[in-house]
Amino acid sequence: MTLDIYAVAGNPVAHSRSPAIHALYAEQTHQALVYERLLCPLDDFAATVRAFAAAGGRGCNVTVPFKFEAFALAARMSPRAQLAGAVNTLRFDEGGWFGDNTDGAGLVRDIERNAGLSLAGKRVLLLGAGGASAGVLGSLIAARPSEIRLANRSIDKAQALVDAHRDWAAQHGVQLTACSLTECGSAYQVMINGTSASLAGAGVPVGPEVLAPGALALDMMYGPAAEPFLAWARSFGANARDGLGMLIEQAAEAFELWRGPKLKVRPDTAPVLAALRVQIQ
Ligand code: ATR
Repeated sequence: MTLDIYAVAGNPVAHSRSPAIHALYAEQTHQALVYERLLCPLDDFAATVRAFAAAGGRGCNVTVPFKFEAFALAARMSPRAQLAGAVNTLRFDEGGWFGDNTDGAGLVRDIERNAGLSLAGKRVLLLGAGGASAGVLGSLIAARPSEIRLANRSIDKAQALVDAHRDWAAQHGVQLTACSLTECGSAYQVMINGTSASLAGAGVPVGPEVLAPGALALDMMYGPAAEPFLAWARSFGANARDGLGMLIEQAAEAFELWRGPKLKVRPDTAPVLAALRVQIQ
């Protein structure tokens, strides 16, 4: 029997946790598959992924910096990928590749189920207007907070993302606005960091007044990259959370997209989150 092969495609991918996560999901749901790392040259993403598909690959997760290129490779896509303008999951269907974006659903599921906080009616501050924020904004809106303020160093990028989501926000009764990092207001119940400021060695680019008492402060990164943000959040009394839960939840969505017809149950994410939490310590 030949095993179905999947991969995480990115650059870098050496430290990706996706192979470990998908191996645990496969074991748990009795799926026979292989999940690899696919390092793609920065100027050769499309050819590398095409060669992987030609060699028997069935689909891939796509990570930094290729989510926009993956969007261009998809012949069909989910409405949420269309809205995000970015694809993090490809399924190599014979009639044309299908693209999805599971990041936002993963984030919302982590906040609402794993952290136990309903977003409905909350005030949310989202920092950053790059790929990470673009991937999750649509799903955050669909969770119907009262307000989402999108703050970014370059306000024109935040405004462009707000404009692209204007109708979606109106449909869900969400007040969606863009602002600079110095004018983002105060007392948010949920703050989400989608900037790469910590990778650049910079501190948290806003003041602690953005946090309401007991706010949830979540960084979409995990491991050492998330530490400065988490330490900052804790020092101001927030409920600090890294992006590991989001990673695991978005992976479950991708797994279901690939294996759906053969799956009897959706993977149980709780034991996988617990196992990975131990691994990254
Ligand atoms: P990703 O795909 O990880 O989101 P990206 O598209 O390069 O990466 O976006 C990085 C985000 O982090 C952007 O919002 C960027 O702000 P600009 O749009 O103004 O460039 C933000 N960012 C990076 N370094 C930052 C810093 N030192 N302070 C504040 N924001 C920063």
